[in-house]
Amino acid sequence: MCGIVGYIGNREAFPIIINGLKRLEYRGYDSAGAALYNGNLIIKKTKGKVKDLEALFTDPKDKEGTIGIGHTRWATHGEPNDVNAHPHVSNSGNLVIVHNGIIENYDSIRQMLTSRGYTFQSDTDTEVLINLIEDVMKKENVKLGKAVQIALNEVVGAYAIVVFDKNNPDEIVLARLGSPLAVGIGKGEYFIASDASPFIEFTKDALYLEDEQMAIIKKYKEPEIRNIKDDEIIAPYIQELQISLDQIEKGGYDHFMLKEIYEQPNVLKDTMRGRVLPQKNIIKLSGIDNNLNKFLNADRIIMVGAGTSWHAGLVGEYLFEELARIPVEVEYSSEFRYRNPIIKENDIVMPISQSGETADTLAAIKLSKEKGAFIYGICNVVGSSIPRESHSGTYTHAGPEIGVASTKAFTTQVNVLTMMALKLAKEKGTISAPEFNQYLTELENIPQKINRVLENDLYIQQIAHHYKDAANFLYLGRGFNFPVALEGALKLKEISYIHAEGYPAAEMKHGPIALIDENMPVVVIATKKGQYEKVVSNIQEIKSRKGKIIAIVTEGDEQVKKLADHVIEIPETLEPLTPLLATIPLQLLSYYIAIYRGCNVDQPRNLAKSVTVE
Ligand code: AGP
Repeated sequence: MCGIVGYIGNREAFPIIINGLKRLEYRGYDSAGAALYNGNLIIKKTKGKVKDLEALFTDPKDKEGTIGIGHTRWATHGEPNDVNAHPHVSNSGNLVIVHNGIIENYDSIRQMLTSRGYTFQSDTDTEVLINLIEDVMKKENVKLGKAVQIALNEVVGAYAIVVFDKNNPDEIVLARLGSPLAVGIGKGEYFIASDASPFIEFTKDALYLEDEQMAIIKKYKEPEIRNIKDDEIIAPYIQELQISLDQIEKGGYDHFMLKEIYEQPNVLKDTMRGRVLPQKNIIKLSGIDNNLNKFLNADRIIMVGAGTSWHAGLVGEYLFEELARIPVEVEYSSEFRYRNPIIKENDIVMPISQSGETADTLAAIKLSKEKGAFIYGICNVVGSSIPRESHSGTYTHAGPEIGVASTKAFTTQVNVLTMMALKLAKEKGTISAPEFNQYLTELENIPQKINRVLENDLYIQQIAHHYKDAANFLYLGRGFNFPVALEGALKLKEISYIHAEGYPAAEMKHGPIALIDENMPVVVIATKKGQYEKVVSNIQEIKSRKGKIIAIVTEGDEQVKKLADHVIEIPETLEPLTPLLATIPLQLLSYYIAIYRGCNVDQPRNLAKSVTVE
């Protein structure tokens, strides 16, 4: 989605804006632009990358000025080109805006403004918005802040906007509804961005605008925060961020995705830190503790998510039903929000989301709240929209996930779901105390077992090289490993652009087996637990049709070794914990195949890190 950076203070704005936009590139974009004020309003924008934008600032004078805004655009209205790139300026040339989101009623507003003599250079809803703000300023004879407030009460849609008036360059105005905005607070200076990564090196003190809030920011003054609707003054809630710049940098790896794959052992320790306590034989999750009766009396849990988060929900279904005997349904947010689902007050709706900004999942929450359900969010980004819209929840503590393809987001989500299912199973007595303790002890072993899986890296690179030109892949798994098969297939297709499908292994006979021939690599998760023998017979069916088999097996397995073309061994663990290990080789396999195919692993084509619009 779009990325926004703004600055007002006492430093040169240019490097802060440009480097800030580079930190937001992971969000996916097709064009970039910036506006600075140095006594004149300097606006430069272009289709392409931030480096192309930087190259447009040839005159050193254009880089001067201590107020500026920047933008990376993910096209929604109007094709990706220079004219449609942000920032956009009003007809008078005085007001300039950057915007993330969609103004749904922009067409009718554009017609109204056109009838009042306004003209438009671009096809964007954003240019309409900045001229609506200008029109209000003139009609109502009010300053920028008030004009923004009045204008936003006339628009329908989602937005995060940052605006300034060249005739009043000591003030910057921002507002949000549905798209995130963070404000970094320095000494007499303010940084504004879609997330904290552009300003974390300057300050860890930040506030997040809530939905339907706006802020008028002047250097050396407290930010003035208001409700857009009723103009109520809001006290700023300033938090100290726990992310540091090195967490965001690649840390020596070639790509963010590889860094994040290798971070998983440590990140899972963070996810379990202070929560999994084998010595006390307890799992501490304040969200559950504070709402225990809701969970113990819930008729069912409805997990909603998209993509990888939906796959984590599928693992959650096996965990909650197997361990805690609580009925679970797993829904795509995009389907759930529109199919008029039956939601009861005794249901717990559990949105799962890395970014906390997925529009469909937010909409599913809104629908569920209207029907009285209790919302328990599982999210990674602290302070993002989904946790703020939820009644309670658990953060995954995965740290920033920059690579578009989710990796540590998935394993930490599964880890949280595992902890929740175990905690509730203990409370309900559906597992014994000794069994519970066995799980806690094994959970503590998982990070070092993941390190052992990562030792297969070189061998997985060789397998990847062997299959890099395949046109299709099948991924098969049973039980807890069925969602892992889906996740492995998604990883491959989204970064290598090879078509891949995940299936329950038993589904082979119902169609997919027709695809098997010597050109079809089949990844089979055949770990020792669960329906191992049945998976082995599936492997035999594939082999007899000349399919190429890449098997994920438990260390020491000799039976599958005789059948498969390639075998990747992972340590033994308790069956419900297998997804935390079996996923890792599939992440590496997709990463290396994509590298060999010369794909942009961190920013795959057509994809965005966070789908904040429908
Ligand atoms: C998975 O690798 C993709 N990044 C995508 O499917 C993602 O999982 C999906 O868009 C949901 O995002 P969220 O977890 O931020 O809500």
